[in-house]
Amino acid sequence: MALIIKEKKIFVAGVTGSGKTYFTENHLLKGFKTPLVITPHEEDYTKAHKGVLVHHLKPYSTDNLNRFIKDYVEPLAKKGEIDAFFIDEADMIIPKSIQLLQMSYSKIYDMFINHRHWKKQNGLGLALGCITRRPQEMNTMFIEQSHHLFIFALEGKNVNQHLSAIHKDFDILLPKLDVDKHNFIHKQLGKAPAIHEPIKSERTIK
Ligand SMILES: Nc1ncnc2c1ncn2[C@@H]1O[C@H](COP(=O)(O)OP(=O)(O)O)[C@@H](O)[C@H]1O
Ligand SMILES: [Mg+2]
Repeated sequence: MALIIKEKKIFVAGVTGSGKTYFTENHLLKGFKTPLVITPHEEDYTKAHKGVLVHHLKPYSTDNLNRFIKDYVEPLAKKGEIDAFFIDEADMIIPKSIQLLQMSYSKIYDMFINHRHWKKQNGLGLALGCITRRPQEMNTMFIEQSHHLFIFALEGKNVNQHLSAIHKDFDILLPKLDVDKHNFIHKQLGKAPAIHEPIKSERTIK
């Protein structure tokens, strides 16, 4: 599937084992030259392409993310050294409350609003990706404003309500997702969601 993802907001959700990391590593990250990924999992993103920068933010906290964006993400984007920033386990470090973000973690908030303007002159702005097991723990603002939603198998009643509020077709599509099959729903901003078969890697991973 060919996607327009440069400078965009991307949201990936699914329970453990549903295929979020595999999809991000084998598909999404290939759309960028030098994407930066933060994850608390040391074993993840070890097979990503050579341009991918992986950082194990420690501690994996909101405070630290706010500082990291100010000290690294924004300056690197403005120097043209990174073209995307992906946040794994995003619900762990991004507060659900917009008020809290604005008051105490303004750099995180600023990034959500302005990332596409963080670029070198005449260059492309920063794309932003959030990956989460618990989309119901994330503010709908992040989800609704994403240009691309990739929804893998999910669990929990609240989760269905959360997504059905974004588009009614999620009601019929969510039950078709299977954690072991790694199929997913793709929703583009302004369009209806559609189900997709699992992607196949271009490379064989042994
Ligand atoms: N499209 C796919 N084709 C083949 N194997 C897959 C696919 N998606 C995921 N897997 C495999 O399923 C397992 C769980 O996937 P993973 O991406 O780690 O899930 P998550 O990040 O959602 O916890 C991994 O062993 C992965 O290699
Ligand atoms: Mg994972």
